[in-house]
Amino acid sequence: MEIVIINSSPRKNGNTAQLCDAFIKGAMQTLPKPKVTTVFLNDLKFKGCQSCFACKLKDSKRYGKCSLNDELSPILSAVNKADCLVLASPIYLMDVNSSAKAFLERLCFSLGSYEVGYRSLAPKEVIVVTIYTMNTTIEYSPVGAMDNVDAFLGHIFSTPRRLCAYNTYQFQDYSKYVVDVFDETEKLKYRDKEFPKDLLRAYDLGRDIATRL
Ligand SMILES: Cc1cc2nc3c(=O)[nH]c(=O)nc-3n(C[C@H](O)[C@H](O)[C@H](O)COP(=O)(O)O)c2cc1C
Repeated sequence: MEIVIINSSPRKNGNTAQLCDAFIKGAMQTLPKPKVTTVFLNDLKFKGCQSCFACKLKDSKRYGKCSLNDELSPILSAVNKADCLVLASPIYLMDVNSSAKAFLERLCFSLGSYEVGYRSLAPKEVIVVTIYTMNTTIEYSPVGAMDNVDAFLGHIFSTPRRLCAYNTYQFQDYSKYVVDVFDETEKLKYRDKEFPKDLLRAYDLGRDIATRL
């Protein structure tokens, strides 16, 4: 049973990474030895879709596959074979960040056919989890952007289980930065009270998903 975790945050110990780790711990509670591959997109040299349309060619072995050959290529193959895909992204400019977007272009465009009914070309049904972390509170969260990502992944594989962490702690030490718009004390209070609950929800989600693998 393989879980592929795609973390698009450049921060390997950031909020998004901590939630991914909690998810893995939860999954390991149910499945003692799941095969977990964690990919930090920021470590890879890759491009977004180049619009070559090789994945849409008639009578071609490349149909339904991304023909670009770079460091994302083996990851796309691994996702197609996985039992569970976790896409974890921080919200940048009210959307998933650019590496998550480039990953999604490559994954979803090649597997989303232009056949009648837009049939998914995914070789198997993959359980999908999306994790989004953001500075904003729930009221201003980019629901539309997250809905779009979840809809594409849902169309290609299966409707994602979504976990969001709001009002995340952004700086290690707020006093070093110009941050007039956030109250450090309030941020700290929220982090200490709410982030452990987010981690617990990620853990529970990992445990729950693992029971389905
Ligand atoms: C370039 C950039 C843009 C951001 N834009 C937003 C935004 O539009 N909305 C938001 O709520 N948070 C925004 N954030 C904050 C991050 O989403 C938030 O701190 C997130 O939890 C960071 O995840 P990480 O700790 O895993 O890196 C932005 C951060 C950066 C660096």
